[in-house]
Amino acid sequence: MNRVYLDHNATTPLDPRVLDAMLPFLRDDFGNPSSLHWLGQRARGAVEEARARVAELVAADPAEIVFTSGGSESDNAALRGAAAKAKPSRSGIVCTAIEHHAVLNTAKALRDEGRPVAIVRVGERGAVDLEDVAASLGETTALVSVMLANNETGVLQPVAEAARLARAAGALVHCDAVQGAGKVVVDVRALGVDLLTLSAHKIYGPKGVGCLYVRRGTPLAALVRGGGQERNRRAGTENVAGVVGFGAAAALARESLPADAIRVAALRDRLEARLLAIPGARRNGEGPRVPNTTNVSFEGVEAEGLLIALDLEGIAVSTGAACAAGGVEPSHVLRAMGLPAERVQSSLRFSLGRATTESDLGHAADVVAAVVAHQRR
Ligand SMILES: Cc1ncc(COP(=O)(O)O)c(C=O)c1O
Repeated sequence: MNRVYLDHNATTPLDPRVLDAMLPFLRDDFGNPSSLHWLGQRARGAVEEARARVAELVAADPAEIVFTSGGSESDNAALRGAAAKAKPSRSGIVCTAIEHHAVLNTAKALRDEGRPVAIVRVGERGAVDLEDVAASLGETTALVSVMLANNETGVLQPVAEAARLARAAGALVHCDAVQGAGKVVVDVRALGVDLLTLSAHKIYGPKGVGCLYVRRGTPLAALVRGGGQERNRRAGTENVAGVVGFGAAAALARESLPADAIRVAALRDRLEARLLAIPGARRNGEGPRVPNTTNVSFEGVEAEGLLIALDLEGIAVSTGAACAAGGVEPSHVLRAMGLPAERVQSSLRFSLGRATTESDLGHAADVVAAVVAHQRR
C-alpha cells in the first residue's frame, strides 16, 4: 500500500540526525547534569549546548530557555506561573477561543479557581480580532495568551499587535508557538512576548520535551517544584537525551526553514487546489497561514467516516475533533470561527512535512476525491 502521512501537526517523525545526536545519551553518557563528576559534566555540557540551539531558533538568550516535558506543560506553566505571581488586583487571564486545550483548559481551571478569565472571539477567517483583544484588556489583566499559528487551520495570529496592546495595558504576554516554530521565523523580541511555548516533537524532535521561553526578569512561579534545576524554574532531573534531541531538531529547523517553507507551501497550495476542485469542498481559514497546513470541509460527508476510509487506503489525516469523556467533541476552533455544525463535522486537516513529495500528494488527492465520492453515494 502507498502510505502517505499528512498529519505533521499532530507529530513529526524523528529526524535520523536527531536520533544520532540522542543515542550517546541513552547509552554511555547517562550522567545526571547536576552531578559534579565527569559523567555529570558531560551531560551538563550537552544540555547547555542544546539550550543555546533552542534559544537561537527563537532569537532568545540561552538563559531564558526553561526545558519542560513538552508544549502542554509549558502552556500550563506560563498561565499558572504568571497567575500565581500576579497581585490579587491583577490576576485576570485573557486568551483566544482557538487556543490549544493546554491553554484553554488551564484558563478555564483558573476561572474555576476564582480568577477573571476572558476568552476572545475569532472571526470567520480564523484570526483573532484585535479590537476584541483590546476590549477584553483591563487593569485586572495579568496575562494575555495568543497562539502563533493555529494547529487546525494553520492561520497565523497577530501576536505582535496583540502583545503591544497587552503590554500597554500592563499585562504579560504568552505565545504558544508550538505550531509556528520551524514553519515561520520566530523572534521573541520582534513578537514582544514575555513567555513562549515550544515542543520538540512538532519539529522532528522527540516527544515529551519542550521549553518555555521566559524573558529575563519575568515574574513566574514554578509549576514543578523540587530541586533547583532550570534556575529554579522547573524542578526535576533533566531529560538529557530528549533535550539534546530538541537542540539538534531546533538547529535543523533553523537551517532548513527558508527552503522548506517555500517548497512545502508550493506543495500545499497544489494539494489544496486539487481538494477544492472536489464538488462541495471549502477551505477553512483564510489569510496568512503556516506553509504546511490546509483544512477543508467536504459538504455532506462526515469527517470521521472519511478519516477512517482514508486510513484504510493508507492516507493519514486528522479531524479537529477531540476525544472527550464519553464521546468526540467537534473542533472548538472551527466552531469558534462560527462555521455551521455540518461544515465543522465534515472538515479534515491535511498537514505536510519535510519529507512530503509531490507524488504523495497526487496520490492522496486522488484517493480523497474517490473516497468522498464513494461516501456521498
Ligand atoms: C498549538 C499547540 N500547543 C500545544 C500542544 C501540546 O504540545 P505537547 O504535545 O508537546 O504537549 C500542541 C500539540 O498538539 C499544539 O498543537
